[in-house]
Amino acid sequence: MLMLRIAFCLAALALVSATTGGCVMSEEMKRIEQVKLEKLRKSEEMTSNLSGKQIFVRSCNTCHPGGASGMGPSLDQLKDHFPTDDKLKAFIRQGAGAMPPQPVEVLNDKELDNLVDYLRHMEVERN
Ligand code: HEC
Repeated sequence: MLMLRIAFCLAALALVSATTGGCVMSEEMKRIEQVKLEKLRKSEEMTSNLSGKQIFVRSCNTCHPGGASGMGPSLDQLKDHFPTDDKLKAFIRQGAGAMPPQPVEVLNDKELDNLVDYLRHMEVERN
């Protein structure tokens, strides 16, 4: 009878430590998972979310060098042609004629904001 009791106690003890141990483990797994996600998010931020100037140089400067006319027209009349940022954004997303569209896979919304901000404040050299 005593042996049975001891055995029961041991079993109960093992059960308790297994369950609490399991809890600690899954907390740890969650934490590791969170750190991984955070790293992934950061690396994504490094590769995208370019500044307006970076995007302009990458995607626009060939045809609108420094905002002046080239293959495309000068960008010194944006205020008149696109009174609102929404109009300008829609135009950039869609493209026109020889000007290529900029879909969201190429230019995310944040980058489009950055680009429009850059265009609104850029000093266009006249030529
Ligand atoms: C391959 C050349 C090319 C590239 C690259 C290009 N554009 Fe253009 N862009 C043009 C042409 C051509 C037009 C005139 C389109 C038309 O109306 O037919 C134009 C027109 C525009 C206009 C209208 C200007 C106005 O006042 O009416 C804006 C704004 C503009 N581009 C911005 C951009 C931005 C921002 C980028 C980069 C994301 C860009 N373009 C990339 C060729 C280009």
